[in-house]
Amino acid sequence: MKIILKLKSIYTIIIVYSILIIAVTILSCNNSQLNTTVTSPNEFVKVDFFISDKGEPTYVVNYKNEKVIDTSKMSFDLKASSPLSENFKIINVKASTTDETWDMIWGEDAQVRNYYNALKVELVETSKLKRRLNIVFKVYDDGIGFRYEFPKQEHLNDVVIIDENTEFNLTGDHKVWWIPGDWDIYEYLYNTTKFSEIDALKHYEPETHLGQTYIPENAVNTPVTMKTSSGLYLSFHEADLTNYAGMTLAVDTQNLKMKSELVGNSENIKVKRQTPFNTPWRTIQIADRAGSLIESKLIVNLNDPSIIDNMLYFKPMKYSGIWWDMHIGTGSWDYSGKYHGANTKYAKEMIDFSSEHNIDGMLVEGWNTGWEKWWDKKNKKVHFNFVTPYPDYDLEEVVRYGKSKGVELVMHHETSADIIRYEKQLDTAFALMKNLGIHAVKTGYVGSILPEGEYHHGQYMVNHYQKVLEKGLETQVAINAHEPIKATGKRRTYPVAIAREGVRGQEYNAWAKDGGNPPEHLTIVPFTRMLGGPIDYTPGIFNTSLKPSRPENQINTTLAHQLALYVVLYSPVQMVPDLIEHYKGHPAMQFIKDVGVDWNTSKVLNAEIGEFITVARQEKSTKNWFLGAITDENKRTIKIKLDFLDEGKTYIARLYKDTSESHYLDNPEVFEIEENNVNKSTILELNLAQGGGCAISLIPKN
Ligand code: NOJ
Ligand code: CA
Repeated sequence: MKIILKLKSIYTIIIVYSILIIAVTILSCNNSQLNTTVTSPNEFVKVDFFISDKGEPTYVVNYKNEKVIDTSKMSFDLKASSPLSENFKIINVKASTTDETWDMIWGEDAQVRNYYNALKVELVETSKLKRRLNIVFKVYDDGIGFRYEFPKQEHLNDVVIIDENTEFNLTGDHKVWWIPGDWDIYEYLYNTTKFSEIDALKHYEPETHLGQTYIPENAVNTPVTMKTSSGLYLSFHEADLTNYAGMTLAVDTQNLKMKSELVGNSENIKVKRQTPFNTPWRTIQIADRAGSLIESKLIVNLNDPSIIDNMLYFKPMKYSGIWWDMHIGTGSWDYSGKYHGANTKYAKEMIDFSSEHNIDGMLVEGWNTGWEKWWDKKNKKVHFNFVTPYPDYDLEEVVRYGKSKGVELVMHHETSADIIRYEKQLDTAFALMKNLGIHAVKTGYVGSILPEGEYHHGQYMVNHYQKVLEKGLETQVAINAHEPIKATGKRRTYPVAIAREGVRGQEYNAWAKDGGNPPEHLTIVPFTRMLGGPIDYTPGIFNTSLKPSRPENQINTTLAHQLALYVVLYSPVQMVPDLIEHYKGHPAMQFIKDVGVDWNTSKVLNAEIGEFITVARQEKSTKNWFLGAITDENKRTIKIKLDFLDEGKTYIARLYKDTSESHYLDNPEVFEIEENNVNKSTILELNLAQGGGCAISLIPKN
């Protein structure tokens, strides 16, 4: 495969200046004297790096002269070697500035500016081994990223990391939105507590439907987002997680500190590498407005440019599916079940419905043999076969019929986390898609990992998910992973990484015994999990009562809120998941038909984490605007200035809104449509019901 490395930039300025000679001179006197500082282009963010008296690498972060990270150390514990922690001196410092603009193949914005000041500090131990370690900082207006580089060297070849100890020493008892640092899953509701009140172990539920949920200590998963008492927003995460273990953050509630805690395996090994290698970037987003966290491109910017120029075989899409049936119990995955969902007749009906409603893709789950034994992992064997359909499902005919109607099949691979079995079938499974001209697959990793002793977020699995991306690239298949590795901006380098789950999705509303996702859930997720990248939430359930199939459950939002999610939650694949009978002839279907999935520009107009959020996006191809606003369990009135619209143009605004009667609990499906002429100077007043929302299409007149 031909890989073209191409950095699309309008202009790039790189100034590199080395202060080697000065540094060496000063260091030979006293290396603790040397302070190395790097600020963001607008000078609001400032990072000071220094070596402590004991020779420990240390950093401090300020934002507009307010300390946001106090003196924090950086070190590694290694197997069969002394820790890389102290007796360091600086031997070289390099500073540089980069300012470039790149095009997103698909995304929230057509173009992204990547503008930062960088500082690379080269360290060496003064002790016998003289091991070397470099630390690189990139400082942006909206936060920082730093990573460790392990250069090739005589006394450090095979590296086995037992612990990475990157500290994040907070300067207050901030308000935190967090989920437990589970080594396997991200499918939790967010907790909102003070930092000192984080208690992840309380959430340990060993036997959930996902089998293994391993939370070894009081730690949180990232992105973890905070608000300081001065009103600043901080979010901690990582970028470009490649051939390394995922990072959780251990929480010291007494001292208000966090420390990296890498996901390990049953052998207590976190990472095995050979020098030279780099760690992922440790990131801290810093913002005055909650919405700026979402608008920030820090995470993708810290990943390498795309290795492909375009991806003509895949374009962002809405997709339907034979899927919700299984979650509400009107269909089954397995052939022996009461009603096998994946049958040719139903698939063709779904294709007809999709092509009538501007839906370009269709997922079919339960199409392949093996589902009867899905839950039976006692004998440590999973039986899925990724090329053999059940007898009532004519795969080739479904693909052919879909193509004739402009609807492409989205393949499904539930691996049940049996990695050994899946990797054995990877070539044939992807060859089948290539031959049939299928360009997207939803993968799934429910349950504990086989081989035993590995976890979803450890290095072994990071490499597995990477292998699948590479295979997708080779065979022109985009990957939508469920129970995935966390999103760390890899979509920039590998645009085949279209979306992933790693969130408590809509499906929990169908069967969770805890009452499902509360109305506030999706006013938090965009500021936490989604800072890593797009999710496959599956918005747009119209039959929110779930009657008659699931009388004990319901969707805890109004219908207008469900519509608004198509704009609020960014994803290049947005499902239209409800049953055909709930959509056909429904007036709200017009919004789903119209709404875009690939954007020129995105703006968060207002937001408060855990309360409300309003997002406006302009579609790339049509230049139409769409707006989505959602609220938590409280009703509220919000004012929206349409000043982002084009000068001198009149638009038809179609509002899909709650009525004064709407309420997520007892009257969720009532809504109304209002149509107005609007322009750049219009201010809209939106009344959102409890658990409500509003979705708006803004289409230029003429
Ligand atoms: C869990 C996924 O999140 C869900 O969407 C899927 O239907 C099941 N696994 C079965 O693969
Ligand atoms: Ca899931």
